[in-house]
Amino acid sequence: MASSTLSPVSPSQLCAGKSSMFCPSHAFLVKPAAKSQSAVVKGKGMRIACQATSVPADDRVPDMGKRQLLNLLLLGAISLPSAGMLIPYASFFAPPGSGGAGGGTVAKDAVGNDVIASEWLKTHGPGDRTLTQGLKGDPTYLVVENDKTLATYGINAVCTHLGCVVPWNKAENKFICPCHGSQYNERGRVVRGPAPLSLALAHADVNVDDGKVVFVPWVETDFRTGEEPWWA
Ligand code: FES
Repeated sequence: MASSTLSPVSPSQLCAGKSSMFCPSHAFLVKPAAKSQSAVVKGKGMRIACQATSVPADDRVPDMGKRQLLNLLLLGAISLPSAGMLIPYASFFAPPGSGGAGGGTVAKDAVGNDVIASEWLKTHGPGDRTLTQGLKGDPTYLVVENDKTLATYGINAVCTHLGCVVPWNKAENKFICPCHGSQYNERGRVVRGPAPLSLALAHADVNVDDGKVVFVPWVETDFRTGEEPWWA
C-alpha cells in the first residue's frame, strides 16, 4: 500500500519547480528564498518531490515601479480609443472651418477643388457669374467685374421664395428662378416676385497667403437696398 510523508507547510507555500514558485493565492512568480522545506510523496512507481519555500511578505506584491508601469499601460489603452472617438464628436459642434480670413469658408468649384482667384480669372471673363460652394454649403455665385477683377461679394443662389436654386440668365442679365418666375438683377436684388427678398450676400475675400477665395458671412448693411441684412 502506498504511503506518503508530508511536512507541515501551508498550502500557499507549496511549489511546482526548483527555480521559481507558483502561489495560487497570489498568482505571481517569486524568487525562491533561502529557507525552504521539502515534502516527498511516494506512490506506485512514482516519486513526487515538492519544495516548500518561505516567502517574505514584502516579496509577495509587485514593486511600485511595476505597478506604475501597469497603470500607465492601462491608462493608455483606455485613453487612446476614447480620444479617437471624442475628437470627431467634438469637431461636429465646431463651425465649419477653413483657415481663411475671419474664419470663413474656402470656396469650392464644381468638382470640389479650392478656388484660387488668379486661376479662376484665367477662365472666367468679365460679367461671369458661376456657382461655387459657399457658406454652409450653399450654392454661391462668384462674380467677375467688368474690369476683370473678382467682386468682393458672392451672391447666394437660394431663392428667397421657396428655396429653388436660381440660375444666371446671361441674355437677360438677371437671375431668373425656374420655379415661380422670381427675378433678381445682376447683383441679386429682387426685381420681381413672388420672392419677397433679395438674394443673400457673402464677402468674397482672397487669402493673401495662398490666393484662395474665402467666403465670410455678410453682417453689414446690404449695399443694394441700404437695409440691414435679413439673413444675418
Ligand atoms: S422658389 Fe423661386 S420663385 Fe418660387
